[in-house]
Amino acid sequence: MTIKAGILGCGYYLPERIMTNFDLEKIVDTSDEWIRSRTGIEQRRIAADNETTSDMALKAAERAIANAGMKKEEIDLVIIPTISPDYAWPATACITTYKLGLKDVPAFDVSAACSGFIYGLTVARAMVESGLYKRVLLIAAEKFSTYLDWTDRNTCVLMGDGAGAMIIGPSETSCIMSTYINSDGSHPEYLCQPGGGSVMPLSQEVLDKKMNFMHMNGKEIYVNAVEKMPQALDAAMKLAGVTPEQVDFTIFHQANIRIIQYIAKKFNIPAEKNIINIQRYGNTSAATIPIAFTEAVESGKIKKGNIVAFSAFGGGMTWGGAVVRV
Ligand SMILES: CC(C)(COP(=O)(O)OP(=O)(O)OC[C@H]1O[C@@H](n2cnc3c(N)ncnc32)[C@H](O)[C@@H]1OP(=O)(O)O)[C@@H](O)C(=O)NCCC(=O)NCCS
Repeated sequence: MTIKAGILGCGYYLPERIMTNFDLEKIVDTSDEWIRSRTGIEQRRIAADNETTSDMALKAAERAIANAGMKKEEIDLVIIPTISPDYAWPATACITTYKLGLKDVPAFDVSAACSGFIYGLTVARAMVESGLYKRVLLIAAEKFSTYLDWTDRNTCVLMGDGAGAMIIGPSETSCIMSTYINSDGSHPEYLCQPGGGSVMPLSQEVLDKKMNFMHMNGKEIYVNAVEKMPQALDAAMKLAGVTPEQVDFTIFHQANIRIIQYIAKKFNIPAEKNIINIQRYGNTSAATIPIAFTEAVESGKIKKGNIVAFSAFGGGMTWGGAVVRV
């Protein structure tokens, strides 16, 4: 019998601390007006100093498990898309699985930057549909604030912390109708953490030059995002056999409101169908889509049976899209 994977439950977690654009005005040479008009961001959440990526992942996971109405012991695989992990290695997924109180469960991270959730969803779907695993806990979790140079106005105003989770498993109602992923590694420098790896091992010079933090060529990322995100959305809808009109809601990676609105315009997606929360949380990297999805499910906006299309773009460069029936 063919197994079809669907979404069995979802959850999210956002740290309590709110940092507004006005708070940032006190830290770097920026303004609420600049950030709001260029990105759409008004505020973001910042994790407590002692709150780790796995702590946030755990809270999102517990909510997703409760939402799915299942026992945590039913989970047989944990995948965490993140690029702001607890440690460079071992995987944050291993630590989160331990904190969740699960034993003998395989766990690994996925590194695909802001497209990480779509990559993780693709892997989770394949694991379930191949019959290898039954209930996959997929948690996109980011504590990006640790990886930001808080003196660099080009980057520190964009990002936020948070986690979003989904349980992916066999379903007769919900369905992951399509997934599409792609990459281009010709320009890692467009968006990366340059220092601390094998190219530029950690040294005093790396620390002095702040190369252990996020670096970005905003213009190049923008240009590529507006090309690749529509491409991924189009591919995902074609693979699912749906037209933009048949999609009930879209959730695009929340990196910049101008990118989101550009894609919406290109596909004639009306504002009421396009779920946006960037103004409140900024760019939580891999976590933006599952956070926005769960918020919309919890508020009653997204209902069972709705068709929702996702599209994301991130460092790597990576991009991807998916269409799900809730
Ligand atoms: C970063 C981004 C918002 C910048 O917007 P932009 O429209 O390209 O910016 P502009 O070209 O109008 O302005 C750049 C100027 O603003 C300045 N600037 C940058 N950040 C600023 C800030 N926070 N506050 C005030 N000024 C800022 C720059 O120093 C530059 O000044 P200069 O022209 O004197 O050198 C935009 O490029 C972007 O969103 N890129 C994609 C980022 C992204 O999505 N990243 C995550 C991908 S997953």
